[in-house]
Amino acid sequence: MVAPSVIYAAVPISVLVAIGLIRKWRSRNWAKCRSNTCLRGKTYLITGASSGIGLETAKALVKRKARIILACRDVVKTKALIANIRKEQPYGGELIPMQLDLASFESIEKFVEVIKAGFYKIDVLINNAGVAVPLKLDLKTKEGFEIHFGVNHLGHFYLTQLLLDHLKKGSPSRIVIVSSLLHEKGEINFNDLNSRAEIELAKQGKTRGRHISAYNNSKLMNVYFMRGLSDRLKGTGIDVSTCCPGFCYTSLFRHSIKWYHYIFMAPIFLLFMKTAKQGAQTVVYCASDYSIEGKTNKMYRECAEYESKYPFDKEVENKLWEVSEQLIKARKPIPIA
Ligand SMILES: NC(=O)c1ccc[n+]([C@@H]2O[C@H](COP(=O)([O-])OP(=O)(O)OC[C@H]3O[C@@H](n4cnc5c(N)ncnc54)[C@H](OP(=O)(O)O)[C@@H]3O)[C@@H](O)[C@H]2O)c1
Repeated sequence: MVAPSVIYAAVPISVLVAIGLIRKWRSRNWAKCRSNTCLRGKTYLITGASSGIGLETAKALVKRKARIILACRDVVKTKALIANIRKEQPYGGELIPMQLDLASFESIEKFVEVIKAGFYKIDVLINNAGVAVPLKLDLKTKEGFEIHFGVNHLGHFYLTQLLLDHLKKGSPSRIVIVSSLLHEKGEINFNDLNSRAEIELAKQGKTRGRHISAYNNSKLMNVYFMRGLSDRLKGTGIDVSTCCPGFCYTSLFRHSIKWYHYIFMAPIFLLFMKTAKQGAQTVVYCASDYSIEGKTNKMYRECAEYESKYPFDKEVENKLWEVSEQLIKARKPIPIA
């Protein structure tokens, strides 16, 4: 007869082994960027490279000998991360930490000034930084824009415009915008780009659905921006693409996930979530694979083209572009005509 203590130990061990095997089987479908072309002489600029997918993208590209500018809020933290990468990869490309806060137009402008003084060209810009914050916190950028709209969309919109001359000098060059499949759940309401209505509901504990609507909206704006930008850059040799890294275990949802969620969500995390390194594969593919050079206005997922199910509207695309320019000029949220 088997002792009860053996049964008590065998059950959780078997469950863990089963989860491990299912995860291994599922991860066979998670794509890997196969290209390992030498990127020596190419300058990459990655926003939000101090953690998660951005950091793993930097590691993968520096291994291929690229020079990487890690644009981050916290340079001290990034220097420590670079020291760790150097222990693993002493002979890769260059890693340059630089201060950038996308929640401040002034910081973006200062950052671009330093880039222009120190670098002749940029070969690839990766707009990766992002926030996902519960709406009830009502966080805003320095200029007063709702944090998802301000950082995920407006900050990158402004940064990209200011860097276009440098990207043209790097031509054939690329702009990769990290969006998400959640863009398909987004909507663009020009009467409330700063999500005031949803924020007020959230403050009263009346949030609709599980998702952070302003995050989804900002990811939709990322795709609209990619579409508008690739049209405007036709013939310049700058390819523009957007990608979804997949559902990854990073610090993105640090404000939304409480400690007790880890207990009952653990099997879901283990079965369905990629690591940041696995999620970075499609970003690295878009940023470095030669087979897609010259392709613009594309969305990628699992290192392959992806056709979004969202019904895009050219009028909305153009209006979002014009409104974004107006808001950057005004440097504060103003009513949209
Ligand atoms: N994780 C997922 O499941 C998932 C799925 C689809 C798409 N994505 C997208 O992937 C991208 C990377 O996210 P992640 O999952 O790697 O999250 P993460 O680990 O939280 O990384 C986000 C990065 O953005 C930076 N950042 C945030 N606010 C910034 C600001 N104001 N100025 C400059 N940098 C700022 C963060 O800097 P700090 O270190 O200073 O906070 C961090 O380096 C995001 O665009 C996200 O929307 C993620």
